[in-house]
Amino acid sequence: MGIILKNKDQIEGIRESCTLAAETLDMIAPHVVAGVSTAQLNKLIDQYVRDNGAIPATVGYRGYKYASCISINDVVCHGVPSEQVLIQDGDILNIDVTTILDGFYGDTSRMYQVGAVPAETKMLVDVAKKCLDIGIKQCYPGNRIGNIGYEIARYAHAMGYSVVHEFCGHGVGLRFHEEPEVSHIADKDTGAVMRPGMVFTIEPMINQGKPRTKVDRADGWTARTIDGSLSAQWEHTVLVTRDGVEVLTDIHQEYPKPLVLA
Ligand code: MF3
Ligand code: CO
Ligand code: CO
Repeated sequence: MGIILKNKDQIEGIRESCTLAAETLDMIAPHVVAGVSTAQLNKLIDQYVRDNGAIPATVGYRGYKYASCISINDVVCHGVPSEQVLIQDGDILNIDVTTILDGFYGDTSRMYQVGAVPAETKMLVDVAKKCLDIGIKQCYPGNRIGNIGYEIARYAHAMGYSVVHEFCGHGVGLRFHEEPEVSHIADKDTGAVMRPGMVFTIEPMINQGKPRTKVDRADGWTARTIDGSLSAQWEHTVLVTRDGVEVLTDIHQEYPKPLVLA
C-alpha cells in the first residue's frame, strides 16, 4: 500500500499509455456532432483503443461495460454510453478514456462543445480547464497534495462555481485507482508530500450550481448535479519530476516539459 513511486521503465510504459488515451480523445473530436448517440461514440473509442494494442480500462471495471464515460450537460461524470442518448446542438460533454497498454494505465478526459453553446456555458467549460491548469501548477516535489484542491477550489469559488466533493483524482499507472486520493477541494498544506516518480490524475468537476451529485438509480453509474445545473470536467495524468511536473497526457505540448524527468 501507500503511494507507488514509479521507476524509469514504468514511467516509459505509463507515458505510452497516456499518449494513446490522449490520441483517442483527438480521434473522437470530429465525430462529436449533433445527432450522434453516445453509444456510437463509445464504439469508435473502443475500436480505436483496441486497434492500437490496448484495452479500455473501464470495460469490466466494477461491472462497468463501456470503453468510455460520456457525460453531457448536468452529468458530472460516469455518463454511461447509450443508443438513447443523442448529442444535441448546444450540448457540452466530457469524454473520459482510460487505456491499459502493456499493463500500464493512462487516464484523461476533455470537454467538447457542440454547435452554438451560450457564452455563459463556455465560461463554465473554460473555468473548469483553468482549474485543471491551476492544479497542475501545484505539482512539484515538496509541495503537498492538498494544495492542488485548495488552489482549484479557491479559483472556482471566486468565479462563482462550486467544486464536486464526491469524486477525486487518484494515483494511476500500475493500477486504475491507486493512492493518493486527489481531492479538488482541500485545506492548505494537507495531504501527502509530492515526490519525484509519483503519478496521479487531476480531474476537477466544476458545477454552475450546487456541488452535490446524485447517481441515477437506473444504471447505478451516471452522476448528475442535484439541481440540474451544468457541470464541466477536464482530466490529465501527471508525473511529479525532480524539478516539477510532466503532464503525461499532454500530446499537444500545451504544458512545458521539465528539464529533468523523474
Ligand atoms: N476514468 C474515470 C476516472 O477518471 C473512471 C471511470 S470508472 C467507470 O477516474 F467505471 F465509470 F468507467
Ligand atoms: Co481518473
Ligand atoms: Co478518467
